[in-house]
Amino acid sequence: MMKIIMVCLGNICRSPLAEGILKEKAGARGLDVTVDSAGTAAYHAGERPDRRSQEIARKHGIDISQQRARQFEVADFDLFDKIYVMDLHNFDDVVSLAGSERDAEKVHLILNTIYPGKNLSVPDPYYGGKNGFEKVYRMLDASCEKIVEDIMLQNADR
Ligand code: 4NP
Repeated sequence: MMKIIMVCLGNICRSPLAEGILKEKAGARGLDVTVDSAGTAAYHAGERPDRRSQEIARKHGIDISQQRARQFEVADFDLFDKIYVMDLHNFDDVVSLAGSERDAEKVHLILNTIYPGKNLSVPDPYYGGKNGFEKVYRMLDASCEKIVEDIMLQNADR
């Protein structure tokens, strides 16, 4: 079974959406995938996703209201096969916690799934308006679609 964790800064805006979207897509295809999310910072630990992320998810038929924010931990390198980060800061923060080259290689910028090698970031929508959440949703939806397609291709190869 594939185990994936989505990581942003606060674990209240971007990565909860990524978790909700990927769970929904994997479930719809009957894929055996574990999905979690975390933040590199602890400021929002224990909180539900930002109201604006909950709203945009609900608009697309996804309920993320039961998620609770937590900080990314070194132990997560052992628990997950792939670590998708939202931006370059997250990338540096998570890679700096890796205890081995093998762990560091688990870390990927999520937009590189759809724009390979471009090293683009999902912008932090926290201080912006609702439109920022709509844009983030579309980026994460496209990325998660690619992630499930790749898992299905891998499964077909085996
Ligand atoms: P996220 O957004 O990393 O997508 O969850 C943020 C949420 C909170 C803060 C920054 C980014 N903050 O500074 O509190």
